[in-house]
Amino acid sequence: MCGIVGYIGNREAYPILIKGLHRLEYRGYDSAGIALIDSESNLHVYKTKGKVANLEQYCKDKNISGTIGIAHTRWATHGEPNDVNAHPHYSQSENLALIHNGIIENYLPLRQMLEKNGFTFVSQTDTEVLVQFIEYVRSKSQCSLYEAVHQALSQVVGAYAIGVLEKGNADVLVAARKGSPLIVGVGEQEYFLGSDASPIVEYTKNVIYLGEEEIVEIKRGSSDILIKNLSNVKLKPQIQKIQMDLSEIEKGGFEHFMLKEIFEQPKSLEMCMNGRVQTEMQEIILSGIRDNIAKFRNARRILITACGTSWHAALIGKYLIEYYCKIPVEVEVASEFRYRNPVVFEDDVLIAISQSGETADTLAAIELAKANGAFIYGICNAVGSSVARLTHSGTYTHAGPEIGVASTKAFTTQVAVLTMITLLLGKELGTIDDSTYKHLVTSLSEVSKKIEKILSKADKIEQISKVFTYARNFMYLGRGYNYPVALEGALKLKEISYIHAEGYPAAEMKHGPIALVDEEMPIVVVAPKFKIYDKIVSNIEELKARKGKIIAIVTEGDTNIANIADYVIEIPSTEECLSPLLTVIPLQLLSYYIATAKGRNVDQPRNLAKSVTVE
Ligand code: AGP
Ligand code: GLU
Repeated sequence: MCGIVGYIGNREAYPILIKGLHRLEYRGYDSAGIALIDSESNLHVYKTKGKVANLEQYCKDKNISGTIGIAHTRWATHGEPNDVNAHPHYSQSENLALIHNGIIENYLPLRQMLEKNGFTFVSQTDTEVLVQFIEYVRSKSQCSLYEAVHQALSQVVGAYAIGVLEKGNADVLVAARKGSPLIVGVGEQEYFLGSDASPIVEYTKNVIYLGEEEIVEIKRGSSDILIKNLSNVKLKPQIQKIQMDLSEIEKGGFEHFMLKEIFEQPKSLEMCMNGRVQTEMQEIILSGIRDNIAKFRNARRILITACGTSWHAALIGKYLIEYYCKIPVEVEVASEFRYRNPVVFEDDVLIAISQSGETADTLAAIELAKANGAFIYGICNAVGSSVARLTHSGTYTHAGPEIGVASTKAFTTQVAVLTMITLLLGKELGTIDDSTYKHLVTSLSEVSKKIEKILSKADKIEQISKVFTYARNFMYLGRGYNYPVALEGALKLKEISYIHAEGYPAAEMKHGPIALVDEEMPIVVVAPKFKIYDKIVSNIEELKARKGKIIAIVTEGDTNIANIADYVIEIPSTEECLSPLLTVIPLQLLSYYIATAKGRNVDQPRNLAKSVTVE
């Protein structure tokens, strides 16, 4: 995810672009840059690592002018955050400059083809391949910029929202989108581009929401906007009015970033699985695993270390890998692991999970394992972060920036990556038969749609939440893959509502905690229909007998538990090993609605930070 801004009109572009980047900084803040065409039709690019404020500092002493420009604030997916990988990217001739939000899946074969045709690259990004490809197409057919963009995008696989400028052509701005959002603002003799309406709304409320695979050409001083789709069909621009105010727009119309990120999970999981879950061929492609399969094949054991929510994902990873790959897995809280003088073998593989990639304890755990010769594999959301740089290899979650302190989409993408790793390892090690492998790959690709279905019931979950705002204690119970989900649900509630909550393996209740149960105690039981379903039904009956208030997460159509529990939230059926990706969604929503009903600061809860970079 990143932020795109563009402008063409009668005003100086620079201040509009910079203010627009500030408004989009929540979409990514690894680096920022702008490209403008000055009054002599020269094309200039200014870009730097870090936040927009760094870019402003960098531009301070430069004589920047021009009434047409594009700007970008990056959330890196390919190539670490640095000046070179920052957008805009020049083409080789420096006649073109391009900004991009998304992932070009087929960037490697395109880059190889371009290198064979004499192109050289300065960055590690997929984006530079795109601008070079547009230049290549242009050189082959001597067509207009618009036509070259159209031809190039017809051969691109992946997601993009782009803006393109051409040296010597200060009157034309070309943009396009597929899979990433892009809006055209229509002012008086001026036009704007934005990843959402926040950089536009100050200047005009008239916008065109570009549709999938649409390419737009905006010409200075002309009221005719050319829009065609990839099939070359000309489309009539549909001008609409922005209804939201600025703060709502930055949160995508949601009240909080956390709710936005909960609802983003179908999309973030699709981005996470993009190019990795091949539904046609029913296979998983993960270069980090493929290139290091021997390390995993010969591993004495796999250690997984993390903190907080990422540690819960790690626990699910244990269940997955031991069940399907038959490799011993030990999960370690990083802050304990780093100090307990653990035994680490050279033939160990350590997987470190971290959304921020900057958690001090997790970094220290990595250093310790690395010093003992273990192979270190990272699962991280922040490209180029400390964890990413310290590990020998890894897989990025591609969840996009997670602004809410309480982790939601980062967790589900971490679990998705662990699932992909498990399936690929199981196939390579021969511990998963082909039909099971293909079936699980297909089922994994269907998860996003199933999450959409759960999200459509948010209102019902909100109603249930309102009943329990009184509670001072909550219990969360689960079994198997859903025991870590119970822990995660409890953590979500604690950290944003400040209500005490504990997660337990459901069968553990009899060993003490059931003494806590009375009519005041809400108990969330994660009880989808799997092989030990009858056991968890018994657990629920034991709790009911002590007047516990039961909120059960059940498989669609389960009338059995519906007759016992006080409240039931249904999830679509799926494979047991994939169920955490679904069962966690109602728990995220439950905690969110309870916390908001209690007036809590959901995005920045008291005492918490998004990344614990200190001990
Ligand atoms: C989860 O909601 C919390 N924000 C916290 O537990 C977090 O998961 C933990 O600090 C680990 O962060 P990391 O994934 O960035 O390493
Ligand atoms: N894939 C591009 C990059 O890594 C764009 C990422 C984004 O959407 O910010 O630079």
